[in-house]
Amino acid sequence: MIEKEKIEEIKRQTDIVAVISQYIKLRKVGKNYRALCPFHTEKDPSFYVNPDKGIFYCFGCKKGGNAITFLMEYEKLDFPAAVRRLAKNLGIEIDTTKGLKYKEIYEVNELACQFYSLCLTKEIGKKGQHYLNERKIDMTKLKDFRLGYAPGSGGLVTFMRQKGVSIEKLNKAGLISTSTSYRQMNREIFRDRLIFPIYNVSGRVIGFGGRGIDDYIKPKYLNSPETPLFKKGEVLYGLYQSKDNIRTKGEAILVEGYFDLLSLFQKGINNVCAPLGTSLTEKQAVLISRFSNKVNILFDGDLSGIKAALRAIGLLINAQVDVFVTSLPTGSDPDTFINQNGVDKLREVIDGAQDFFHFYKKAVKIDTVEQEVVLIKDLIQIISSIRDGIRYDRYLKYISRVFDIPIDTIMKEMASKKKTSVKSVRDFKITQEEKVMAMILNAREYFSLVKDFLKPEDFNEDGLKRLYNLLLRDKNFDIYDLSEVISETLREKLLSIIMKEEAVPKQAFLEALIRYKSGIEEKRIRSKISEAQVKGDEQARTKYFKQLNALKQKMLKIDLDKVTTDSDL
Ligand code: GTP
Ligand code: MN
Repeated sequence: MIEKEKIEEIKRQTDIVAVISQYIKLRKVGKNYRALCPFHTEKDPSFYVNPDKGIFYCFGCKKGGNAITFLMEYEKLDFPAAVRRLAKNLGIEIDTTKGLKYKEIYEVNELACQFYSLCLTKEIGKKGQHYLNERKIDMTKLKDFRLGYAPGSGGLVTFMRQKGVSIEKLNKAGLISTSTSYRQMNREIFRDRLIFPIYNVSGRVIGFGGRGIDDYIKPKYLNSPETPLFKKGEVLYGLYQSKDNIRTKGEAILVEGYFDLLSLFQKGINNVCAPLGTSLTEKQAVLISRFSNKVNILFDGDLSGIKAALRAIGLLINAQVDVFVTSLPTGSDPDTFINQNGVDKLREVIDGAQDFFHFYKKAVKIDTVEQEVVLIKDLIQIISSIRDGIRYDRYLKYISRVFDIPIDTIMKEMASKKKTSVKSVRDFKITQEEKVMAMILNAREYFSLVKDFLKPEDFNEDGLKRLYNLLLRDKNFDIYDLSEVISETLREKLLSIIMKEEAVPKQAFLEALIRYKSGIEEKRIRSKISEAQVKGDEQARTKYFKQLNALKQKMLKIDLDKVTTDSDL
């Protein structure tokens, strides 16, 4: 564990603007910095960084936090790794860590990877080797992929036991299923499958894909279940091994399957990546865009491949990359194409890739005017997210020319789209007590005043109660990188207020507190009054009215005292 004091010191010294600037371009607006959000696709910047408070917040997707949270999100680091990264930048030394949240899963995955690749080299993995040979996979050219084989008879659990890894950890890493049925207990997920370790962009194994060796095995492919590290829709297979080539070649080739990828890579087309058997997600599109601003889609030549390409186009354009599509003959996928026609032939086809616009137009069947209208509207929708003015203009002209529609008409259609397609973001309803909590968090220097004034019960929401209790224990308690204590939504809400509000001057702060507190007391008394009224208890009613009046007097008085004497309490 990294000591708390060390973390505090690192936080104090870290300049969040410098940290985030390493990844995205920030522009100064007033006291804040602004940029296009790196966590969702948008046209207008709603990502803000506040250097004074050391926090960032996106008003669009509501992601926010401090420099540590940023690194955790952007680089997919765990908390200690993010802290260490900041420490390194600052030249602060920290001790080695233990008891990390993700570290153990990483370690288990690494061991599992070793186990599966070992099996592939041994007698027990003959079947896997044979299969790879049949599919013309040359392991010597694919060392970085660390392919493996999971024996039909299992063996992972035994291997892990020898390494001192518990069943619980194996389960956490998604390698076994601990079903309640005793026959299924501790069942290894991957059996008699070829194993494809899946890496994150930092090169650590976060999950596995497995292909059944025998054709009757269902499902044909199997991925690790989701774990804290492994989210299928957020990784791309092969990206780690390809990313440098993608950067230098200025282009990423997107394929559909594991074998397509390996087949291309071993033949020198090594700027490839693939989603994990699901259609491309927004997150994956944004991920690719971090490495290249040009993507060439090379999907299967059948109808489902074409449909998948059409879907991917919109997401990629939205992530601001140039999109090209390579069409393969019906019935072949990149892997079969290479094996039948050779890599040079495939290179030729890839080089002849079409601009997404022309692909789109050709792929969509048009028999009627109605279908054409739909197509044109779809294309307009897609290009409306292009930020680069020149590219945008070019496509506008394409549509105008190809469909013989005046540019003005297209622009009008776009304007109407824009109104409706403004990114639908979650809208918060912020309560009074949340505002008060944000104000308190924003002015910790006055916490000694607050402490005497508010009780945890003065907050209705459980999360706020918990948070207030923690503040009572430690007023410097940091909500920005903690999500265990309060819900993500509450954290986001508080951040959104904190990002917008200035720190309140002391007097105004006190007034607001008093107003809040008296509001609560008043509500309490009023409910007692109506209770008394229902019961017809005249005596009680009078008593509570007196209390109410007294409260009002008291509040008035405190109010005046505080505001006029500016005492420090
Ligand atoms: P091979 O038959 O091994 O050549 O696979 P392929 O890549 O040609 O298969 P296909 O085009 O059917 O699938 C493309 C990708 O989709 C695969 O690489 C897998 O990632 C995924 N996939 C295919 N079938 C399944 C399945 O049954 N389950 C899951 N989870 N993914 C699958
Ligand atoms: Mn195939």
